[in-house]
Amino acid sequence: MLVTVCDSLRNPPEHSPFDLVIGNPPYGRVTLDAPDRERFRRSLYGHANLYGLFTDMALRQCRPGGVIAFVTPTSFVAGKYFKNLRALLDAEAPPASIDFVSARKGVFADVLQETLLATYRRGGRPAPASVHKVMPSNGGGLQIERVGTFTTLSVDASQPWLLARTIAQATLVDRLRSMPHRLADWGYTVSTGPLVWNRHKSQMREARGKHGLPIIWAEAVTRDGRFTWKAEKKNHKPYFEPNAGDEWLITRAPCVLLQRTTAKEQHRRLIATPLPAQFLKTHGAAVIENHINMIRPNCDDPAVSPDVLAAFLNSAAADSVFRCLNGSVAVSAYELQALPLPDPGAMCALTSLVRVEADRNAVDAACAILYGINERD
Ligand SMILES: C[S@@+](CC[C@H](N)C(=O)[O-])C[C@H]1O[C@@H](n2cnc3c(N)ncnc32)[C@H](O)[C@@H]1O
Repeated sequence: MLVTVCDSLRNPPEHSPFDLVIGNPPYGRVTLDAPDRERFRRSLYGHANLYGLFTDMALRQCRPGGVIAFVTPTSFVAGKYFKNLRALLDAEAPPASIDFVSARKGVFADVLQETLLATYRRGGRPAPASVHKVMPSNGGGLQIERVGTFTTLSVDASQPWLLARTIAQATLVDRLRSMPHRLADWGYTVSTGPLVWNRHKSQMREARGKHGLPIIWAEAVTRDGRFTWKAEKKNHKPYFEPNAGDEWLITRAPCVLLQRTTAKEQHRRLIATPLPAQFLKTHGAAVIENHINMIRPNCDDPAVSPDVLAAFLNSAAADSVFRCLNGSVAVSAYELQALPLPDPGAMCALTSLVRVEADRNAVDAACAILYGINERD
């Protein structure tokens, strides 16, 4: 029989293993029943996604030495929920080639996610994977650009994979692989803003009232990384009336606010601002909404101050680095915590520039130096 129409996750083909397993699997979150969760346990971490299950299934259908060729969203290269899938791929079928489809729109009908075409070789460790950028060209053909290579050798493959998307990023990625510092070393941890507004509709207020606190919505973090307190969008109200037991929703200490959703087509993927100390002083505290990441000090005296951290994250260099490890429109706490950073002891020049409110070009240049990026990169 040439074609069998069935639920492929439940009906593995009879004649496996195969030399070649090709797929353009479905994607989207699914809730699994207990037996299925157990069956795919080795590749799952938290939420299951259909394409992750199909990738796991493909590994089971491919013979040692065989090839798996899959078109999938790019989110698995970095997302937390794919960490066990990344480790499994690394152990059983490391990538042999990864081709990023540069355009999100107009390539696959109705697909808004960034996609990639990858081949994986089952068993054995191949040479580093070749990485390409594939662009649809105007005449209907394809333009293919070699970007560099990728290997999971000598790194923890469950961690987000650092992958250059452009030739210019290839040298940067090589350098990032040997940069050990992370946000925790700078004295910070990341969590998402705790207020999910539609669970607290009755506590939203137009006016402050007796115990009201300002709500900080994502719109307060401007595209150029400034803080402007406002609540102008639909359903947004400026104040929150806390009830007994709402302390977990309240922020009283300084932190850096960073947008949680940005697209690769945007000028910047990382958009941050310090929550101004004066704002906290005026209002006593604030309630931060769920579309914002809060980068909070994990100690009394972080090695890098919140304003320097925000300036650094807003730089072109940090933006490039983030683009090399993210594969979706989410800017997650998990990925931020995995972002390779310069040594916190090397921040003197940047700190001085931030203190004198130097212009963005000067700050960008200082951040580029911290990543060893020169103009030719
Ligand atoms: C991204 S589309 C790809 C369609 C087709 N393979 C192609 O390349 O044009 C994914 C397809 O998988 C099918 N699908 C979803 N869940 C499935 C399952 N459990 N078993 C088999 N096919 C499934 C969907 O109906 C959809 O047609």
